[in-house]
Amino acid sequence: MSLPETIQQWETSQDGIENLKQTTAPLPWPGKNEVLVMISALAINYRDTEVIMGLYKHHKTTGEPTASMVPCSDMCGTVTASNSPNWKVGDRVLSIFNQNHVKGQIVPENMKSGLGSPLPGCLTQYRVFPDYGLVKAPDYLSDEQACTLAIAGVTAWMAVNGMRPLGQAGGKGEKVLVQGTGGVAISGLQIAAASGAEVIVTSSSDAKLEQANKLGAAHTINYRTNKDWEEEVLKVTNGEGADIIFENGGAQTLRKSFECVKFGGLINCIGYLSGKVDAADDRTNTNLLALKRNVTLKGILNGPKDRFEEMLKFYDEKKIEPVVDRVFAFDEAKEALNYLFAGGHFGKVVIKIS
Ligand SMILES: NC(=O)c1ccc[n+]([C@@H]2O[C@H](COP(=O)([O-])OP(=O)(O)OC[C@H]3O[C@@H](n4cnc5c(N)ncnc54)[C@H](OP(=O)(O)O)[C@@H]3O)[C@@H](O)[C@H]2O)c1
Repeated sequence: MSLPETIQQWETSQDGIENLKQTTAPLPWPGKNEVLVMISALAINYRDTEVIMGLYKHHKTTGEPTASMVPCSDMCGTVTASNSPNWKVGDRVLSIFNQNHVKGQIVPENMKSGLGSPLPGCLTQYRVFPDYGLVKAPDYLSDEQACTLAIAGVTAWMAVNGMRPLGQAGGKGEKVLVQGTGGVAISGLQIAAASGAEVIVTSSSDAKLEQANKLGAAHTINYRTNKDWEEEVLKVTNGEGADIIFENGGAQTLRKSFECVKFGGLINCIGYLSGKVDAADDRTNTNLLALKRNVTLKGILNGPKDRFEEMLKFYDEKKIEPVVDRVFAFDEAKEALNYLFAGGHFGKVVIKIS
């Protein structure tokens, strides 16, 4: 295959989606133990919109991104040149979000290897990766489906399985609550349902809740028309609450999660879609909230490569197909990011690159 001398990419100065620029760059070339990947599909995340808008500032451990940088992280592509014994030309691969987070609990050093901030990302036609920063793409999934797994899939996998040995999920009538119908929540619905758990989904939209039903949700709650949705969670769990909660909302949802988590249950702190700062009034201390129901509160920062590979095996066994809401063309990157930020999607939003 003949390779181009120059490539097209998008760059951001973290000053807004409207200021993203398409630029031309020389084709990069792999050094020792590196590979060149032709990127075919890229999934976008809420984080990418924040980075591009200059709002991704709550991690002190990530280091400064370069002034102008290629954003986004989750890609599927094909190895087109290899300088590594581990990958050969033609291998289909997925990127790992924090490139050097290979196993175990994340450490600050791993955060410095995040794609699309602080490291240059994947909204580009070709990129060089260290050979350890990739996993094999599942054969049964299209590039558009497979590229969605690195952040949304792995984060959901860790929320369900990160605190216990594999194989225990879904046992004894386990109930899992996912908030919203974005990428992490829908991956969580698919993983938990395939594990045998009873899944409860909240959403602002009845139409999206209908889609969630079709994917195997046992109970659905519209959090816009039902402000006391935590009461509804208790109702559908016989007053006990959910064993595991995906806390995707943050400021306006955490207190409610504490009221509808099971005694001894797990709240995974994942996102902040409803805000990063609590309202000043009625602020019951988190310490008290956690002890009231003997809760485990766990901050999640994606997951390591070995858990990603474990998840891919599970996906393959269960033949889980990630939900792709819409695929945009490479030239429509701004439209794709605005579409995601508006929150009308269900599952993942993808950009087709080549
Ligand atoms: N910690 C980690 O490792 C990690 C990894 C990935 C993502 N995240 C974070 O997790 C959050 C979700 O990420 P994502 O990629 O899944 O985002 P996403 O795809 O953009 O999800 C957007 C959806 O979230 C729902 N939502 C919005 N406000 C909500 C609220 N107040 N309560 C409940 N749901 C609400 C909406 O669903 P409905 O329209 O159905 O209401 C919306 O469509 C983001 O804050 C992201 O930064 C963290």
